[in-house]
Amino acid sequence: MRIVMIGSGYVGLVSGACLADFGHHITCVDKSEAKIDALERGEVPIFEPGLDAIIEHNRSAGRLDFSKDLAAPVADADVVFIAVGTPSRRGDGHADLSYVYAAAREIAAAVSGFTVVVTKSTVPVGTGDEIERIFREEFPGKDIAVVSNPEFLREGAAITDFKRPDRIVIGTEDPRATEVMREVYRPLYLNEAPLYFCERRTSELIKYAANAFLAMKITFINEIADLCEQIGADVQKVAKGIGMDKRIGDKFLHAGPGYGGSCFPKDTLALVKTAQDYDSPMRLIETTVAINDNRKRAMGRKVIAACAGSVRGKKIAVLGLTFKPNTDDMRDAPSITIIQALLDGGAAVHVYDPEGMQAAKEMLGPVTYGNDPYEIAEGADAIVLVTEWDEFRALDFKRLKSTMKNPVVVDLRNIYPVAEITRHGFSHFAVGKKTE
Ligand code: UDX
Repeated sequence: MRIVMIGSGYVGLVSGACLADFGHHITCVDKSEAKIDALERGEVPIFEPGLDAIIEHNRSAGRLDFSKDLAAPVADADVVFIAVGTPSRRGDGHADLSYVYAAAREIAAAVSGFTVVVTKSTVPVGTGDEIERIFREEFPGKDIAVVSNPEFLREGAAITDFKRPDRIVIGTEDPRATEVMREVYRPLYLNEAPLYFCERRTSELIKYAANAFLAMKITFINEIADLCEQIGADVQKVAKGIGMDKRIGDKFLHAGPGYGGSCFPKDTLALVKTAQDYDSPMRLIETTVAINDNRKRAMGRKVIAACAGSVRGKKIAVLGLTFKPNTDDMRDAPSITIIQALLDGGAAVHVYDPEGMQAAKEMLGPVTYGNDPYEIAEGADAIVLVTEWDEFRALDFKRLKSTMKNPVVVDLRNIYPVAEITRHGFSHFAVGKKTE
């Protein structure tokens, strides 16, 4: 099959590379010359474990190529995926679909013969209908079916998520498109990943409903964590205890500094807006969004409280900046709000992250960047663990204590058992449990 991926960002590159690995021929297209030039030189512009090897392997096998030009590869394609960005529109929180519609028009102008156009970008319910209207009214005579096929990849685990998905959701009622999509995912289907066919609007909503539900689950356990701190219970044990009930499940019940990233904050907001537009408000999700926003600020206050109520003139060492480990993505990372609160409180903030410091430089205020945890902990009044990178899981607390000014650890991801830190003479603050 000849497949074109429009948009060589995170989703486009991962999906393109994995589909090539299944034996299809993929052309990844992007308007950014710099990006395509880099990819052609063999450089991968995003950090995702395992992605560079898959790209390299399929490029040399002749199954994966890159192009700045959309028209030529689309003319030969059986399937064209739209994987361009859908950022939150400034001001109103709606998803900005201008890139999606621009891509759709360019695709329609270029296709020849029956072509399936698939939205992989997260698009609000009804976007497929609008694309279909554009094709019908502006490009009559072109034979195109519009399909929704949302992506459920997690950053940092994207390759496994693509190759071993819980399900593949495909929204179409067109029998020819159904057959084509079966063919695209045949290798996965043989892997026993269920293909779930439904109407296009239903498929579009599944993506938002899934992300909103997961965001709500995290927010629920975060509120339980706050209560645990007040009543002297342990949130990790509560999560385990409720997660053993299969109706609840044990995933996405880790209390922490609030969710961030490119999907949950944007998608929950977009769902809230869609629901309001259709006069069917989703109060649970509106509240989830508000609680999560407040939580990031509250985490700043938690650190200040751990420093005896003030960080003025104190040195705070922040370990981990990205919204989660194994990514270089800083979008909506809790670290941004927490660090701002510390700077506002008069602290000197020193930070270290294994992959996120480049992106952080455009997003954080006046902080000092260090090369490792021990360097930034020197003379510090507190260490704050914000992202649970593996390299923070076995810190040498003896060494840290010998160089810090005050032995205080605020573990916002609960990666250390209380006893492990306190036995080294540290004051220890965690999330959702009494520690002192
Ligand atoms: C998410 C969805 O998981 C994925 O299916 C969707 O398609 C895109 O959005 P991603 O944003 O890459 O993926 O990260 P994810 O692993 O889901 O984590 C999102 C945020 O929630 C992170 O900030 C993470 O730290 C936080 N989180 C996650 C928690 O605080 N607790 C948890 O138990 C799980």
